[in-house]
Order: sequence, then structure tokens, then C-alpha cells
Amino acid sequence: MTTHSINVVILAAGKGTRMHSDLPKVLHQLAGKPLLSHVIDTARKLSFARLCVVYGFGGELVPQTINDPAIAWAEQAEQKGTGHAVMQALPHLAEAPVTLVLLGDVPLVRVETCNAVIAQAGKGHVGLLTVNKPDPKGYGRVLRTFDGHVSGIVEEKDASEDQRTIREVNTGIMALPTAHLKKWLGQLKADNAQGEYYLTDVIAMAVADGLKVMSSLADDEFEALGINSKSDLAQAERIYQGINAENLLRKGVTLADPMRLEVRGQLVCGRDVSIDIGCVFEGEVTLGDNVSIGPYCVLRNTQIAAGTQVQAFSHIDGAEVGPDGRIGPFARLRPGAVLAKSTHIGNFVEIKNSSIGVESKINHLSYIGDSTVGKDVNIGAGTITCNYDGVNKHRTVIGDGAFIGSDTQLVAPVEVGANATIGAGSTITKNAPDGKLTLSRGKQITIAGWKRPEKNQ
Ligand code: UD1
Ligand code: CA
Repeated sequence: MTTHSINVVILAAGKGTRMHSDLPKVLHQLAGKPLLSHVIDTARKLSFARLCVVYGFGGELVPQTINDPAIAWAEQAEQKGTGHAVMQALPHLAEAPVTLVLLGDVPLVRVETCNAVIAQAGKGHVGLLTVNKPDPKGYGRVLRTFDGHVSGIVEEKDASEDQRTIREVNTGIMALPTAHLKKWLGQLKADNAQGEYYLTDVIAMAVADGLKVMSSLADDEFEALGINSKSDLAQAERIYQGINAENLLRKGVTLADPMRLEVRGQLVCGRDVSIDIGCVFEGEVTLGDNVSIGPYCVLRNTQIAAGTQVQAFSHIDGAEVGPDGRIGPFARLRPGAVLAKSTHIGNFVEIKNSSIGVESKINHLSYIGDSTVGKDVNIGAGTITCNYDGVNKHRTVIGDGAFIGSDTQLVAPVEVGANATIGAGSTITKNAPDGKLTLSRGKQITIAGWKRPEKNQ
């Protein structure tokens, strides 16, 4: 069956007591985005009729953080269990024959796996995703009859010694015929160890009503990983990053160590890209062919064109770097830094909201903000554009071929002409003309007969 006639309900109302945090569990981040967003992104690929998220602990913080108009939010004011949570979603559901339940704390489940579960419900069965875990601790165990049919789920806290040895666990992901689901939810009781309305009890009800519970086994154990503690979260992060690194390696990217790469967003690489250890990529980052990134760099929402080298410890955020450049070590590019071809940006240079022309060099200890720098410009060590008067920002314009001597302050708004030279140590407050030497510097003098002071007795 096609999947556009399903409801998707994501349970995200729990507190996450075992996280020992004030933040609702589903807002803790995996690879730079909330756990719940991972589940929503997977759900989106299912072409549902209605997507409903049940929220509760943390109040409006969860819907506000996710801020997605396509979601129907159902409040579960008191967290009385997963079955009770699904009940809160019922008034928000569409007239769809099948309802898929996903858990906001099970972030790594795949779209194909969800589709396999949905397909069972489409045939009038209950689809249940289970997984075999060498260490099933904490999960609901799947009960089967002697001839192998699923007969129910027992939560660990309610399980007998014998039942606890069962390794097949409930992932929490199930698809059910909607009409039956409504009926079963109405029959739930909270007579269990936790005094909660367990969604898992509907499995035995389905069997009692003569429906088949068809289990699909998740391909990979990690798909079923439920995040209950910081330790689970750290484990999920390593798994996520490992999968991501493997994908990059498969596409031909050289990674000095796949275990020491963090991608918190989308990293798109050309051919023959190499990335050294300890780098963090956030948001949308694109690296062109032959780009190399040195150790311990952070790149966020940035594009680096072909052939550019980014050297160790550089921090690049919201920048566009042209081809064949050399950035770093210890360079900082901030939002709006736009660098043309073959620029050199050296150590302890900060560039913000500025364009830098072809083959221009800013090699040491400078701040360039709100500036337009032409091509073939050389900016000496310790140059500062004084772009802020305490209230407003002003621009500095530096023409092609200009040479700015070391330790110069350019007090904006100010313009330096093409091929102008600024003498070292100048404070430039007025425009400097094309092709001329401009400097503002006290004349050097030597005081005759001056003596160093002597210490009083
Ligand atoms: C649940 C399952 C268990 C399964 C495991 C898989 C039940 C009773 N147990 O256990 O069989 O092996 O998931 O990870 O379903 N939630 C609400 N409202 C509530 C309670 C929970 O929205 O009142 C949400 C939580 O935010 C969470 C999810 O449901 O996202 C699961 O809740 P949690 O308390 O973590 O259940 P588990 O004990 O892990
Ligand atoms: Ca859980």
C-alpha cells in the first residue's frame, strides 16, 4: 500500500528523569539537533496525512523550539504513560486507516524500517518493530507463543526473572489499524509496576481480538536505541558520527581519523578532499575539490571553493571562501566574510562582513570588519579597521594594489585609494589618495641630554 493515508504520532511528552536535566529529554541534541527533530525528519519522509506530536513536560518549550506549522501538537498535561500519550493524540488524527507510533527518544530508526512496519498495518495486522539486543536491560520484552507468534509485551519492571532473559525487545515503534487502536486505548488499565497506561498492552489486546501482530526486525540494533540517559545519548552520537564518516569515506573523502570528526548538519565534499582530526562541521558546509582542512578547525554554514587549504585551529562561520586560498592557522572568518580567489589569511586575523579581492593578503594579527578590500592588497600585521563608533558601524574601502603598513588603524568611514601606501603606525581618519604615501605619525625625535629617572633613596 502507499503511505499517504497514515497518521504519524510521535510521543515526546516525557520528562526524561534519567537524563538528570531540566531540559525536556527530546530537546537534548544529537549531532547538533534535538532528538525529536531527528524523528520528525524521518516521519516527514513517510508522506503522512497527519503528523501529531504529543508534548507535555517542559510545556510550550518543545513546540516553540521545533516551531513547525505542519505539526499538530497534542498536549499531555500529566505524563501517565505511553498509552495515555497516544490517547491525547486521537482528537488530532486524520481519517486514516493506519496510525504509526514513533518515540521521540528513538532517533536513529530508518525510513525503510518504518515503511516495513506500516506495510503490515496496511494489510490489517499490527506491525511491530522489534530488535534482538545482547543486553536488553531497560526495554520491554517481546513475548511469543510456543509456535513463535507475538502474544504481548512485558515491561522490564513487570517482567518475571524468566521473561527478563528474553533478548527480543520492543523498539516502541508500531503501526496499527486506527479504528482498533481507538478501541484498545479505551480498554487500557494502569495496573502495573509503574501505575501507567502502557501503549504496549495493546499488543495482547490485538491478539485477543484475533489480529495478527507481525514483527519486523530492525536491520541494525542502533535503530532501536532509546535515549534514556546521557550515556545512551553519547552512544547514539558516536553511532551517528560513525555512519556519517563511513558515508564520506565511501564517497572518497580522506579522513585522518573517522572517529575524530563531528558533523552536525550537512557536509558536502568534492573530490580529493581531506580532513584532519578534530574538526567540527555545523549547519551547511560545502568543500570544493582538493580542499584540505587542517586539524581542529570549526566550520559552520560555509562554502570553501576548490584547492583552498584551511590550516589548523581556524574558525570559519558564515563565510564564502574562493578557490586556491590559504586560511590559517588560527584564522577567524565571521559571517559575511567573502574571499575571492587566492587570498591568504593568516594567524589571528579576524574578518567580518567584508569582501577581500583576488590575491590579497592579510597575514597576521588584524581585524577587518565592514570593509571592501580590492585585489592585490597587502595588509600589514596589526591593522585594525575601527568600524564601530559606539553606536553605528561604518565601512572601510581599500582600493586595488594598496599597501597598508603594520599597526595601522583605519577609522571608518574611510577610503584608501588604489595603489596607495599607508605608512606603518598610522591612524587614518581621512581618505588617502590613489598612488600616494599617506601617514599620520608623530615625527621621530631623539631628546638630547635625557636621563632615565633614578630610584629615590
Ligand atoms: C518504552 C516502551 C518499551 C520499549 C522502549 C523502547 C512502553 C510502556 N514502554 O519504554 O516497551 O522497549 O520504550 O525505547 O511503551 N512519553 C510520553 N508520555 C508519557 C510517557 C512517555 O509522551 O506519559 C514519551 C517519552 O517522551 C518518550 C517515549 O514516550 O519519548 C518513551 O517513553 P519512556 O518513558 O522513555 O519509555 P521507556 O521506559 O523507554
Ligand atoms: Ca525510552
